[in-house]
Amino acid sequence: MADAKKSTGIHIKGIGKYVPEMIATNEDFAKIVDTSDEWITQRTGIKTRHITNGEPTYYIGAQAAKNAIADAGIDVSDIDLIITATVTPDFYTPSTACLIQREIGAIGSMAIDINCACTGFDYGIDMAKRYLQSEDGVDTVLLVASEELSKFVDYTDRSSCILFGDGSAAFVLERQYDTLYSSFLGADGTGAKYLVSRAMRSENAFRTNKEDFDMGMPETKKHYFTQDGREVYKFATKALPNAVEKACEKAGISPDELDAIVPHQANVRIIETAAKNLGVSMDKMVVYIDRYGNTSSASIPIAFCDAVAEGKIKRGDKICLVGFGGGLTYAAVIFEY
Ligand code: COA
Repeated sequence: MADAKKSTGIHIKGIGKYVPEMIATNEDFAKIVDTSDEWITQRTGIKTRHITNGEPTYYIGAQAAKNAIADAGIDVSDIDLIITATVTPDFYTPSTACLIQREIGAIGSMAIDINCACTGFDYGIDMAKRYLQSEDGVDTVLLVASEELSKFVDYTDRSSCILFGDGSAAFVLERQYDTLYSSFLGADGTGAKYLVSRAMRSENAFRTNKEDFDMGMPETKKHYFTQDGREVYKFATKALPNAVEKACEKAGISPDELDAIVPHQANVRIIETAAKNLGVSMDKMVVYIDRYGNTSSASIPIAFCDAVAEGKIKRGDKICLVGFGGGLTYAAVIFEY
């Protein structure tokens, strides 16, 4: 393999996470739906997830942001841009990023939400990198992924409710010259129907057409989340290794040269299959799904934070963060921590 390609990339100055205090175990789920610890553990690898007791998405995100800012040792006034990845905003407007900005007091920074489902943190890193690279007044970016998935989970659907948890994590990012960075991002809207949570309409007194447009999407109960688990599983086991390989190609390294791969934490079997397809050992894969379940855009950075805290990821390591999710979206970013 040729030397890794060096370019302008990112420096992760600080990281932080936050999960709500309340924990729901598999046994707790067995009390509300027809399931068991054995089924959930074997089919998904999940044992517990944190679930909010009313703390909204913006609040959860602000706690992680404060932790990342403290870790970075910066002043909030240094923040030029806040990017928030979420599929569970508290409001259509204002954005979660604006509410987080208000909570942490970074008044005056740019603030924007992105929705790329479980791939949001990868997309957010790449967006931050491009702002930083432009050298046009953005020197410090706060990237926050925050999810209150319990907002749209249908707790009567045993095939999906056992999967999800709430939580958040944040990175403080700066520009770094002459470093390892590559990204491979994409989407396939033809698979939009496989992961769905519908935005609800208000009653419109002027509307005479009572038929809904056929959007080619499944009928759902209110805003509740619905998925085609098997289709998502098939997509994920292909998209995950493919994104890692493509990002590695662009970086001029092989997957084996990565010190750690932090995948979206949806199902441990998806991660095991991807590792096999990539020809890398499971030791390289960072997996904390047993603790948190699937926290959508927050799952990758939460796992990253735990891996750093436990010494599995160290400064200087070559890291790949790889996600897949609703959209359908997929993305991998590679950098040196
Ligand atoms: N407890 C017990 N049984 C359950 C269950 C649960 N929580 N959920 C589903 N089952 C049952 C099904 O009803 C089915 O029963 P049947 O054979 O009598 O019809 C059986 O288990 C097998 O269902 P199946 O859907 O084939 O299971 P699976 O092995 O594919 O696992 C998922 C289901 C959802 C765990 C798996 O498909 C998956 O992880 N998909 C990806 C989902 C995902 O990651 N979504 C988010 C992406 S960001």
